[in-house]
Amino acid sequence: MQGVDFVTVDPDDRRQLRELRKIWLPYWRETTTRDGSKPEKRRKIYRRLKNRVAHAHKTQKTGFNALYSEGRMVGFAFFGLSGGIRSIGIPPDYGMVMEFCIALSFRRKGFATEMNRQMEKLFLDWGITNTFLTPDPVTGDPFWRSVGYHDSQLKDPDTHRLIYVKEIHE
Ligand SMILES: CC(C)(COP(=O)(O)OP(=O)(O)OC[C@H]1O[C@@H](n2cnc3c(N)ncnc32)[C@H](O)[C@@H]1OP(=O)(O)O)[C@@H](O)C(=O)NCCC(=O)NCCS
Repeated sequence: MQGVDFVTVDPDDRRQLRELRKIWLPYWRETTTRDGSKPEKRRKIYRRLKNRVAHAHKTQKTGFNALYSEGRMVGFAFFGLSGGIRSIGIPPDYGMVMEFCIALSFRRKGFATEMNRQMEKLFLDWGITNTFLTPDPVTGDPFWRSVGYHDSQLKDPDTHRLIYVKEIHE
């Protein structure tokens, strides 16, 4: 895909964070209210973003990156070494995709496929060859299947959500 960059988010870049908030807020509301839950307050949702960006900045093998197309931010991903989930047998060297979104008006154009490709390159650079995630049931499920994830038949012991896995290659 031409004209696309996958860039580390800088916690001190206010302009970049403002752009990111515009995609983050609707993403958080979209994916956390599907089960009928009440949406959280805007300030709390923004604080969650700030905490994640700060965590990625100070943690090895963890990224909070934004995807740009022709200089315009179209999505983001938060991902990294997971530490595993011991109680269900997910090894500590597995990578995990924590957050992943393409802004509504840019969907179904292949941007998420491209963002996943670039994210997988970073996982491989970090020596991570197996990854897992808990897919959003509406948009996440068909997308993750389309890029090679499958249902592991395991459930996250805390959230009880399905866990999808993938072995990644060059
Ligand atoms: C999931 C998401 C990232 C997909 O982004 P996208 O840029 O639209 O995905 P792509 O264009 O790369 O889609 C690739 C393929 O995935 C599948 N797919 C993606 N979104 C789909 C949807 N809503 N319904 C059915 N299939 C879908 C299709 O097979 C698609 O190929 P096609 O468009 O040729 O049919 C986006 O819908 C999103 O941000 N959703 C809200 C947040 C979310 O669910 N994130 C994942 C959290 S686990």
